[in-house]
Amino acid sequence: MSLHQQVRKITTHVLQAMKLKQEKIAMLTAYDYSMARLLDAAGIDVILVGDSASNVMAGYDSTLPITLDEMIYHASSVVRAVKRALVVVDLPFGTYQGNSKKALQSAIRIMKETGSSAIKIEGGSEVEDSIKRILSAGIPVMGHLGLTPQSIHKFGTYVVRATEEEEAEKLIEDAHLLEESGCFGIVLEKVPAKLAAQVSKEIKIPIIGIGAGHEVDGQVLVLHDMLGITTEFSPRFLRRYLNLSDDIQMAVKNYIADVRSCDFPNDNEQY
Ligand code: KIV
Repeated sequence: MSLHQQVRKITTHVLQAMKLKQEKIAMLTAYDYSMARLLDAAGIDVILVGDSASNVMAGYDSTLPITLDEMIYHASSVVRAVKRALVVVDLPFGTYQGNSKKALQSAIRIMKETGSSAIKIEGGSEVEDSIKRILSAGIPVMGHLGLTPQSIHKFGTYVVRATEEEEAEKLIEDAHLLEESGCFGIVLEKVPAKLAAQVSKEIKIPIIGIGAGHEVDGQVLVLHDMLGITTEFSPRFLRRYLNLSDDIQMAVKNYIADVRSCDFPNDNEQY
Protein backbone atom coordinates (compact mmCIF):
# COMPACT_ATOMS: atom_id res chain seq x y z
CA MET A 1 0.00 0.00 0.00
CA SER A 2 1.37 3.40 -0.86
CA LEU A 3 2.25 5.87 1.88
CA HIS A 4 -0.55 8.36 1.21
CA GLN A 5 -3.08 5.50 1.60
CA GLN A 6 -1.65 4.49 4.98
CA VAL A 7 -1.81 7.85 6.73
CA ARG A 8 -4.93 9.39 8.26
CA LYS A 9 -3.56 12.92 8.16
CA ILE A 10 -1.14 14.46 5.67
CA THR A 11 1.65 16.42 7.35
CA THR A 12 4.78 18.07 5.98
CA HIS A 13 6.67 14.94 7.15
CA VAL A 14 4.38 12.72 5.08
CA LEU A 15 5.11 14.86 2.01
CA GLN A 16 8.84 14.50 2.63
CA ALA A 17 8.45 10.72 2.96
CA MET A 18 6.41 10.66 -0.26
CA LYS A 19 9.29 12.37 -2.08
CA LEU A 20 11.75 9.80 -0.71
CA LYS A 21 9.49 6.96 -1.87
CA GLN A 22 8.93 8.71 -5.22
CA GLU A 23 5.18 8.89 -4.65
CA LYS A 24 3.71 11.87 -6.47
CA ILE A 25 1.93 14.54 -4.42
CA ALA A 26 -1.46 15.83 -5.66
CA MET A 27 -2.34 19.40 -4.70
CA LEU A 28 -5.26 21.64 -5.73
CA THR A 29 -6.52 25.04 -4.65
CA ALA A 30 -9.78 25.56 -2.76
CA TYR A 31 -11.29 28.64 -1.18
CA ASP A 32 -14.56 27.52 0.40
CA TYR A 33 -16.07 24.86 2.65
CA SER A 34 -18.11 22.90 0.08
CA MET A 35 -15.34 22.47 -2.50
CA ALA A 36 -12.71 21.70 0.16
CA ARG A 37 -14.97 18.96 1.56
CA LEU A 38 -15.21 17.33 -1.89
CA LEU A 39 -11.45 17.54 -2.51
CA ASP A 40 -10.64 16.09 0.89
CA ALA A 41 -13.13 13.23 0.47
CA ALA A 42 -11.61 12.46 -2.95
CA GLY A 43 -8.19 12.03 -1.32
CA ILE A 44 -6.24 15.14 -2.33
CA ASP A 45 -2.94 15.42 -0.43
CA VAL A 46 -2.59 19.19 -0.15
CA ILE A 47 -5.17 21.97 -0.40
CA LEU A 48 -3.74 25.38 -1.20
CA VAL A 49 -5.85 28.35 -0.21
CA GLY A 50 -4.19 30.33 -2.96
CA ASP A 51 -4.26 34.06 -3.45
CA SER A 52 -5.67 33.07 -6.86
CA ALA A 53 -8.90 33.56 -4.87
CA SER A 54 -8.35 37.19 -5.87
CA ASN A 55 -8.97 36.16 -9.51
CA VAL A 56 -11.41 33.26 -9.36
CA MET A 57 -13.46 34.20 -6.30
CA ALA A 58 -13.34 38.00 -6.30
CA GLY A 59 -12.93 38.73 -10.04
CA TYR A 60 -9.82 40.91 -9.87
CA ASP A 61 -7.39 40.69 -12.79
CA SER A 62 -4.39 39.92 -10.54
CA THR A 63 -3.59 38.41 -7.15
CA LEU A 64 -2.51 41.76 -5.72
CA PRO A 65 -5.77 43.17 -4.28
CA ILE A 66 -6.77 40.31 -1.96
CA THR A 67 -6.30 41.18 1.72
CA LEU A 68 -5.12 39.20 4.73
CA ASP A 69 -8.63 39.34 6.24
CA GLU A 70 -10.09 37.92 3.01
CA MET A 71 -7.50 35.12 2.92
CA ILE A 72 -8.32 34.32 6.54
CA TYR A 73 -12.03 34.11 5.67
CA HIS A 74 -11.33 31.70 2.78
CA ALA A 75 -8.81 29.62 4.76
CA SER A 76 -11.00 29.17 7.83
CA SER A 77 -13.88 28.03 5.58
CA VAL A 78 -11.57 25.44 4.00
CA VAL A 79 -10.12 24.22 7.31
CA ARG A 80 -13.63 23.58 8.70
CA ALA A 81 -14.16 21.09 5.85
CA VAL A 82 -10.87 19.22 5.86
CA LYS A 83 -10.05 16.08 7.84
CA ARG A 84 -7.07 14.62 6.02
CA ALA A 85 -5.34 16.98 3.60
CA LEU A 86 -2.59 19.42 4.56
CA VAL A 87 -3.97 22.97 4.26
CA VAL A 88 -1.47 25.60 3.08
CA VAL A 89 -2.43 29.28 2.88
CA ASP A 90 -0.85 31.98 0.70
CA LEU A 91 0.38 35.11 2.46
CA PRO A 92 -1.11 37.82 0.24
CA PHE A 93 0.79 40.65 -1.43
CA GLY A 94 1.94 43.36 0.96
CA THR A 95 1.87 41.25 4.11
CA TYR A 96 5.44 39.91 4.15
CA GLN A 97 7.70 41.68 1.63
CA GLY A 98 10.44 43.91 3.05
CA ASN A 99 9.41 43.59 6.68
CA SER A 100 10.06 40.31 8.47
CA LYS A 101 8.25 41.39 11.67
CA LYS A 102 5.12 42.15 9.69
CA ALA A 103 5.57 38.84 7.86
CA LEU A 104 5.61 36.96 11.16
CA GLN A 105 2.52 38.84 12.40
CA SER A 106 0.70 37.98 9.16
CA ALA A 107 1.67 34.32 9.38
CA ILE A 108 0.65 34.13 13.05
CA ARG A 109 -2.78 35.61 12.22
CA ILE A 110 -3.26 32.96 9.53
CA MET A 111 -2.27 30.11 11.84
CA LYS A 112 -4.29 31.37 14.85
CA GLU A 113 -7.43 32.50 13.04
CA THR A 114 -7.77 29.71 10.46
CA GLY A 115 -6.33 26.55 12.01
CA SER A 116 -4.37 25.79 8.85
CA SER A 117 -1.04 23.94 8.92
CA ALA A 118 1.35 26.02 6.83
CA ILE A 119 1.79 29.19 4.81
CA LYS A 120 3.22 29.85 1.33
CA ILE A 121 5.37 32.81 0.29
CA GLU A 122 6.48 33.90 -3.18
CA GLY A 123 10.15 34.67 -3.86
CA GLY A 124 13.70 33.66 -2.93
CA SER A 125 16.56 35.74 -1.51
CA GLU A 126 14.39 38.91 -1.54
CA VAL A 127 12.15 37.43 1.17
CA GLU A 128 14.76 35.37 3.03
CA ASP A 129 14.44 37.37 6.28
CA SER A 130 10.67 36.99 6.32
CA ILE A 131 10.88 33.25 5.68
CA LYS A 132 13.48 32.72 8.42
CA ARG A 133 11.52 34.73 10.99
CA ILE A 134 8.30 32.86 10.26
CA LEU A 135 10.10 29.51 10.45
CA SER A 136 11.66 30.53 13.77
CA ALA A 137 8.14 30.68 15.22
CA GLY A 138 7.56 27.05 14.26
CA ILE A 139 5.31 27.85 11.30
CA PRO A 140 5.93 25.59 8.28
CA VAL A 141 6.69 27.57 5.12
CA MET A 142 6.33 26.55 1.49
CA GLY A 143 8.29 28.57 -1.09
CA HIS A 144 7.13 29.60 -4.57
CA LEU A 145 9.60 30.25 -7.40
CA GLY A 146 9.48 30.73 -11.18
CA LEU A 147 6.41 32.68 -12.22
CA THR A 148 5.39 34.54 -9.07
CA PRO A 149 2.08 36.28 -9.87
CA GLN A 150 2.44 38.83 -7.05
CA SER A 151 5.38 40.32 -9.02
CA ILE A 152 3.42 40.62 -12.28
CA HIS A 153 4.06 44.36 -12.52
CA LYS A 154 7.82 43.75 -12.32
CA PHE A 155 7.78 41.02 -15.02
CA GLY A 156 5.08 42.59 -17.19
CA THR A 157 3.71 39.28 -18.52
CA TYR A 158 2.75 35.76 -17.43
CA VAL A 159 5.17 34.07 -19.90
CA VAL A 160 7.40 31.10 -19.02
CA ARG A 161 10.11 32.13 -16.54
CA ALA A 162 13.81 31.22 -16.28
CA THR A 163 14.36 30.41 -19.94
CA GLU A 164 17.59 32.45 -19.88
CA GLU A 165 20.65 31.12 -18.07
CA GLU A 166 20.95 34.01 -15.60
CA GLU A 167 17.38 33.67 -14.36
CA ALA A 168 17.68 29.86 -14.26
CA GLU A 169 20.83 30.12 -12.11
CA LYS A 170 19.12 32.54 -9.72
CA LEU A 171 16.16 30.15 -9.47
CA ILE A 172 18.43 27.21 -8.59
CA GLU A 173 20.25 29.34 -5.97
CA ASP A 174 16.91 30.43 -4.51
CA ALA A 175 15.69 26.82 -4.35
CA HIS A 176 18.82 25.87 -2.36
CA LEU A 177 18.31 28.88 -0.10
CA LEU A 178 14.70 27.90 0.62
CA GLU A 179 15.74 24.33 1.37
CA GLU A 180 18.60 25.42 3.66
CA SER A 181 16.32 27.92 5.44
CA GLY A 182 13.98 25.07 6.39
CA CYS A 183 11.04 25.36 3.97
CA PHE A 184 9.14 22.06 3.67
CA GLY A 185 8.43 22.35 -0.05
CA ILE A 186 8.51 24.64 -3.08
CA VAL A 187 5.93 25.42 -5.75
CA LEU A 188 7.65 25.86 -9.11
CA GLU A 189 5.45 27.73 -11.57
CA LYS A 190 5.76 27.91 -15.36
CA VAL A 191 9.44 27.10 -15.91
CA PRO A 192 11.07 24.79 -18.49
CA ALA A 193 10.54 21.11 -17.64
CA LYS A 194 14.28 20.41 -17.85
CA LEU A 195 15.09 23.06 -15.26
CA ALA A 196 12.30 21.83 -12.96
CA ALA A 197 13.64 18.26 -13.22
CA GLN A 198 17.12 19.49 -12.26
CA VAL A 199 15.76 21.40 -9.25
CA SER A 200 13.72 18.41 -8.14
CA LYS A 201 16.81 16.18 -8.33
CA GLU A 202 19.14 18.60 -6.51
CA ILE A 203 16.73 19.69 -3.78
CA LYS A 204 15.71 17.27 -1.06
CA ILE A 205 12.36 18.88 -0.17
CA PRO A 206 9.26 18.24 -2.36
CA ILE A 207 8.98 20.34 -5.53
CA ILE A 208 5.38 20.84 -6.66
CA GLY A 209 5.05 21.93 -10.27
CA ILE A 210 2.47 23.96 -12.16
CA GLY A 211 3.52 24.20 -15.78
CA ALA A 212 6.87 22.66 -14.83
CA GLY A 213 6.65 19.23 -16.48
CA HIS A 214 6.31 15.83 -14.86
CA GLU A 215 9.80 15.25 -13.44
CA VAL A 216 8.92 16.97 -10.18
CA ASP A 217 7.51 15.55 -6.95
CA GLY A 218 3.90 16.62 -7.41
CA GLN A 219 1.48 18.84 -9.28
CA VAL A 220 -0.85 21.70 -8.41
CA LEU A 221 -3.62 23.33 -10.43
CA VAL A 222 -6.15 26.04 -9.72
CA LEU A 223 -9.43 24.21 -9.05
CA HIS A 224 -11.63 26.54 -11.11
CA ASP A 225 -9.32 26.09 -14.11
CA MET A 226 -9.16 22.28 -14.01
CA LEU A 227 -12.94 22.02 -13.48
CA GLY A 228 -13.57 24.30 -16.45
CA ILE A 229 -15.41 26.93 -14.43
CA THR A 230 -13.02 29.55 -15.80
CA THR A 231 -12.89 29.44 -19.60
CA GLU A 232 -10.86 32.47 -20.66
CA PHE A 233 -7.59 31.13 -19.15
CA SER A 234 -6.02 28.39 -21.33
CA PRO A 235 -2.28 28.00 -20.82
CA ARG A 236 -0.63 24.94 -22.39
CA PHE A 237 -0.03 23.30 -18.99
CA LEU A 238 -3.70 23.32 -18.02
CA ARG A 239 -5.63 20.06 -18.36
CA ARG A 240 -9.39 20.53 -17.97
CA TYR A 241 -11.03 17.56 -16.25
CA LEU A 242 -14.56 18.95 -16.60
CA ASN A 243 -16.39 21.63 -18.51
CA LEU A 244 -18.44 22.84 -15.58
CA SER A 245 -19.02 26.21 -17.17
CA ASP A 246 -21.21 24.57 -19.87
CA ASP A 247 -22.90 22.23 -17.37
CA ILE A 248 -23.72 25.02 -14.91
CA GLN A 249 -25.08 27.31 -17.61
CA MET A 250 -27.22 24.49 -19.02
CA ALA A 251 -28.62 23.71 -15.55
CA VAL A 252 -29.40 27.40 -14.93
CA LYS A 253 -31.06 27.76 -18.35
CA ASN A 254 -33.19 24.67 -17.66
CA TYR A 255 -34.19 26.09 -14.27
CA ILE A 256 -35.15 29.46 -15.77
CA ALA A 257 -37.25 27.71 -18.43
CA ASP A 258 -38.95 25.52 -15.79
CA VAL A 259 -39.78 28.54 -13.60
CA ARG A 260 -41.15 30.52 -16.54
CA SER A 261 -43.27 27.61 -17.78
CA CYS A 262 -44.57 26.83 -14.24
CA ASP A 263 -43.08 23.32 -14.57
CA PHE A 264 -41.14 23.97 -11.33
CA PRO A 265 -42.23 23.33 -8.65
CA ASN A 266 -44.56 20.44 -9.47
CA ASP A 267 -47.08 18.80 -7.11
CA ASN A 268 -44.38 16.66 -5.46
CA GLU A 269 -42.13 19.62 -4.85
CA GLN A 270 -44.51 21.55 -2.62
CA TYR A 271 -46.08 21.23 0.86
O1 KIV B 1 -2.51 31.17 -5.72
C1 KIV B 1 -2.41 30.08 -6.30
O2 KIV B 1 -3.40 29.46 -6.71
C2 KIV B 1 -1.08 29.52 -6.49
C3 KIV B 1 -0.97 28.34 -7.40
C4 KIV B 1 -1.02 28.77 -8.81
C5 KIV B 1 0.23 27.53 -7.11
O3 KIV B 1 -0.14 30.02 -5.98
